[in-house]
Amino acid sequence: MTDRPVVYVTRPIPEAGLELLEEAEVEFHVRDEKLPPGKNELVDRLVELDPEGLLCLLTDHIDGEVMDAARSLDVVSTFSVGYDHIDMDSAEARGLAVGHTPGVLSETTADFAWALLMTAARRTVEGSEYVMADEWETWGPKLLTGPDVHGATLGVVGFGNIGSAVARRAAGFDMEVLYTDTGRQPDVEEELAEYGVDAQFVAEDELLERSDFVTLHVPLTPETEGFVGEPEVRAMKDSAVLVNTSRGPVVDTDALNTALEEDWIERAALDVTDPEPLPADHEITRHVPEKLVLAPHIASASIGTRDRMARMAAKNLLAGLAGEELPNSAIEDRR
Ligand code: DGY
Repeated sequence: MTDRPVVYVTRPIPEAGLELLEEAEVEFHVRDEKLPPGKNELVDRLVELDPEGLLCLLTDHIDGEVMDAARSLDVVSTFSVGYDHIDMDSAEARGLAVGHTPGVLSETTADFAWALLMTAARRTVEGSEYVMADEWETWGPKLLTGPDVHGATLGVVGFGNIGSAVARRAAGFDMEVLYTDTGRQPDVEEELAEYGVDAQFVAEDELLERSDFVTLHVPLTPETEGFVGEPEVRAMKDSAVLVNTSRGPVVDTDALNTALEEDWIERAALDVTDPEPLPADHEITRHVPEKLVLAPHIASASIGTRDRMARMAAKNLLAGLAGEELPNSAIEDRR
């Protein structure tokens, strides 16, 4: 028997976070598996361990039943900025603290949104496949041409940390930057102006109509689910490129599939999909690589950022165990 607080970690996270748990002398149990636990496994394990702390990933669905399985639970800390996988109302109703990892992954995720944008525009995946298929016979004036990125119009949907970091990077490409959000963000506009980016707040319709590149940076909520459906893809330019590094269900996959099929837009690049993981034989994959670029939800996957996320998740957890205010409370941040 021990009176150290017990913590359950649903899958291995970087050592940088586990070291903090070790130093704090909590009794932590890391489930050493590649795939997430199913709900039954998670509930059974929580009943068995009865931890005070749960450190989970975005692939774990933490609902009221899961929370109730751990009778002593005080804190749920997720190794992600998004917390759409946690039933926040149930957590609040039970008085649980919930931590997440905002800020530390914004720049890395913005880098990746640009990687997707550039890949889709300049057809680098196609180029690589073309070479490896031994189809490269000669230099050609029309070979794998794509739209210019420099001088184009970038439309950013959601102007929080990540969206504004994506917009800031447009300075080097001399782009016109439009954004839409629940309201105008004068402070962010001012900050970006220092980098030479003149970001204009516009209504969603205008953004979709005017942008050459539309990049999504909204959290998944009932309001943003299916945000890009048939009317939205139809409203976009037929030469437009859609980039999604937010959450898969923000885009209606069927609508996007039809849009690519019927050339309503030129291309899409997705780091997140619905469903996720996306099976290789899903209907939409027939557009790869000519019209669709895919990545397996890796926008925040730099070594440094994953270490920072691990430390932040551990610190949130430890604060919750100590009954202190969480450095990054998802409950506060959603208010
Ligand atoms: C998050 O943290 O929510 C991202 O989707 C993965 O890093």
